[in-house]
Amino acid sequence: MQSTSLNEEFRIFAGTANPKLAGMIADKLDVQLGACNIDRYPDGEVAVQLLESVRRKEVFLIQPTSPLVNDHLIELLALADACRRSAAARITAIVPYFGYARADKRLGGRKPITGRMAADLLEAVGIAQLVTIDLHSPQIEGFFYGPVDTLTAVPTLCQELRGHLPPDIVVVSPDAGRVQLAAHYAQWLSAPVIVLHKRRKDGTQTEVTHVVGDVSGRACLIVDDMISTGGTVAESVRALLAAGARSEMFVAATHGLLLPGARCKLQHPAVREVFITDTVCSQEVPWPGLHVTSIAPLIAGALERFLADGSLRDLYQENARRPATNTATKRYGTGILS
Ligand code: R5P
Repeated sequence: MQSTSLNEEFRIFAGTANPKLAGMIADKLDVQLGACNIDRYPDGEVAVQLLESVRRKEVFLIQPTSPLVNDHLIELLALADACRRSAAARITAIVPYFGYARADKRLGGRKPITGRMAADLLEAVGIAQLVTIDLHSPQIEGFFYGPVDTLTAVPTLCQELRGHLPPDIVVVSPDAGRVQLAAHYAQWLSAPVIVLHKRRKDGTQTEVTHVVGDVSGRACLIVDDMISTGGTVAESVRALLAAGARSEMFVAATHGLLLPGARCKLQHPAVREVFITDTVCSQEVPWPGLHVTSIAPLIAGALERFLADGSLRDLYQENARRPATNTATKRYGTGILS
């Protein structure tokens, strides 16, 4: 695709949540990021101004709603509102990590569904289409009236994982909600799936009550959509070791939020290596066992296909090798092509 003709047709703007990822996506497409000012008023309110015309243009806004979640969400809303009021033809939000995704249902009386609220806000400012990666739960797509493309980092991460994992690895779902994700890893890695029953005590503490499947003497790959405080991984490691697993664990997660204290929890002697992507720009300092794989080629590939009105069907074949033993095309959840 010719970069000059593409650049005529669309603009990409980035919020401040992950400028490095946005820059890499723009580089892959061989375009410049759109010029804009994003600042704060003295009282903390978000100030945004586009510095170039978007009239009748296709606009992509890149902004994971990662910590500081509320600031980054408001920046995205303000950017979209500026585009809408400047007569952009269509606004697509690229939200690699969708904050508030865990608040996808009412967790008790007199509580909100904040994930739905975030979706409503995005649509209210004119965002017509959403692109995201490994949503916490597929039904969040239903919070949006417009099209949602949920990409998956699993093939990308599996490509990295191969060569690091021992042959007798089992893929571990840390809770019932991640079984489909674990099955997807298992498909790419040709490995069996183990499921843990997790009970969340509060925002930072979880407890594994059962290990479903035989892990005796086996090395484990714990997979999750996100690592936030690291509590889920730490508790999974404890339960797996107690169930007789070998002290050789690997961790893979799409979104490495890595909040303060997470690194310490992940550096358990049994945890050999941790694999994440760059959907989130974490403040944590990288450590030797941490592998960060960029998701920019996947997102850029998706954008190229959108701009050509093409299908995403072959996206993963281009971005990751398929496993030797299983070449069947399979869907993981709603709308995730693999
Ligand atoms: C929970 O349902 C999620 O899939 C993750 O397991 C969880 O959010 C990870 O958070 P933390 O690292 O704080 O345990």
